[in-house]
Amino acid sequence: MDAQYRLDGRMFINGERVDAISRKEIDVYDPSTGQVMSTIAAGDTGDVNHAVSTSQKAYEADWKRFTPSERANILFSVADRIGQYKEELAYIESLDVGKPHKQALADVDAAIGYFRFYAGIADKIFGTSIPLGEGIADYTIREPIGISAQIIPWNYPLQLSSRGFAPALAAGNAVVAKVAEDASLSILRLAEIAHEAGLPKGVLNVITGYGSVAGQALSDHPDIHHLTFTGSLNTGIQVMKTAANHITPVNLELGGKSPIIIFGDADIDKVVETASNVIIQNAGQTCSAASRIIVNNKVHAEVVEKIAEKMSKVKLGRGLDNPDMGPVVSERQMNSILQAISNGRESNANVVLGGNRSKQQGLENGYFIQPTLFDNVKVGSFIEQEEIFGPVLSVMPFDTADEALAIANGTEYGLVASVFSNDLKLVHHMTNQIQAGQVFVNGYGAGGGVAIPFGGYKKSGFGREKGLEAIQNYTTVKNVWIDYR
Ligand code: NAI
Ligand code: MG
Repeated sequence: MDAQYRLDGRMFINGERVDAISRKEIDVYDPSTGQVMSTIAAGDTGDVNHAVSTSQKAYEADWKRFTPSERANILFSVADRIGQYKEELAYIESLDVGKPHKQALADVDAAIGYFRFYAGIADKIFGTSIPLGEGIADYTIREPIGISAQIIPWNYPLQLSSRGFAPALAAGNAVVAKVAEDASLSILRLAEIAHEAGLPKGVLNVITGYGSVAGQALSDHPDIHHLTFTGSLNTGIQVMKTAANHITPVNLELGGKSPIIIFGDADIDKVVETASNVIIQNAGQTCSAASRIIVNNKVHAEVVEKIAEKMSKVKLGRGLDNPDMGPVVSERQMNSILQAISNGRESNANVVLGGNRSKQQGLENGYFIQPTLFDNVKVGSFIEQEEIFGPVLSVMPFDTADEALAIANGTEYGLVASVFSNDLKLVHHMTNQIQAGQVFVNGYGAGGGVAIPFGGYKKSGFGREKGLEAIQNYTTVKNVWIDYR
């Protein structure tokens, strides 16, 4: 596919594209070639202040005054208009992140799904009426919080921005987003499209720039009322500390080291298909990726052999050429994955497949990593414990269900888990004991669907995205008590 859409890296503030006040820019690299292909604005504190103040005006003067059904109608129009620009958005997403074009198309569909789902909820955010006896009326109202700040990562820019924007806007808030320096372009275009679809200017502002500058300034801003963050554990800790300066509530969706637990009676072909697809998707750069296979010794050899066979057939290539797997997002991310692989070798895990940067002809300058499979990984070792965020899968065998549980729950994360078995008692035991925000049985949702709540146990974070649950993040409860005796 040839370059056919313009890449505009200027910020989107108050309904228009703007450069940074400083005029500074950041280079944007094509991860498939390592070449500079565009620039984005290097926003800083001044740009953040400007964005927050225009969003405050838009919130007070406009968005707050719309009726819930008017908001719903605009969000339905946003969903429709995203659909009209599906090809353009997928093109930008594929180019900027490196992901296969078909995955980028699916990401646009997910973005549309978020806007539709929350458009439908905008006029159904009910309070409750609490019976206190004759002469007293008591009821609650779910009010918008005001300005929702959102710091977004680079792995699924369209999906993760829509996941936060749609419920925040549906509940009546204005949004100021800081998007990731490695993948800003699609979200900037999304915000523009939303404005064209009828979202008043200033209701959705998008700032670009470095995390330590623009992200820090946004999380430290006194006039934001809530902060949604998705990204790494360490940055999450930093953001939460900064937000504490102003008692700004946060919602954190951080890393994961999610397991698939395979029992002896599992449908092996199904689990092999699932496990190899999930770690290849987006080159493993998915917070909910299953990066650990915990497998019963009875089927261990068969599972490893079959996963290796599937992963060995994965075709690498430039995202827009629609390979099975594209490059990882940046040189920094590539080097961090290669470092993790070298840690794995040092721990004497058995490299069954891959383990290097791709040497494939034509891809030498891109950030391509071979699909990598480690067997007999030592429980407690670096690659078994740490989020790698690349196409790297670790296998650990077990004998008893309790051993499997100890391994599954033995990291500091708890985002997603999956169990493959048809033993009803065993399955219920596992789903009860696993510490994770989503548990799948005989499948793997990779965050699955717009309607089901998603979020972490332990250091995977707190608060829930998606589904009706997400509305809790973006509303606050007021109780009204009236004496009419
Ligand atoms: P990061 O957590 O630093 O970046 C995420 C977002 O936070 C970006 O928009 C970034 O600009 C912003 N940010 C960075 N420093 C900030 C600060 N001091 N204050 C406010 N905002 C700040 O993640 P990074 O460094 O890009 O990726 C490193 C690792 O993080 C990955 O290898 C992966 O393990 C994990 N990660 C997890 C994601 C998830 O979906 N849970 C998404 C992206 C990364
Ligand atoms: Mg990029």
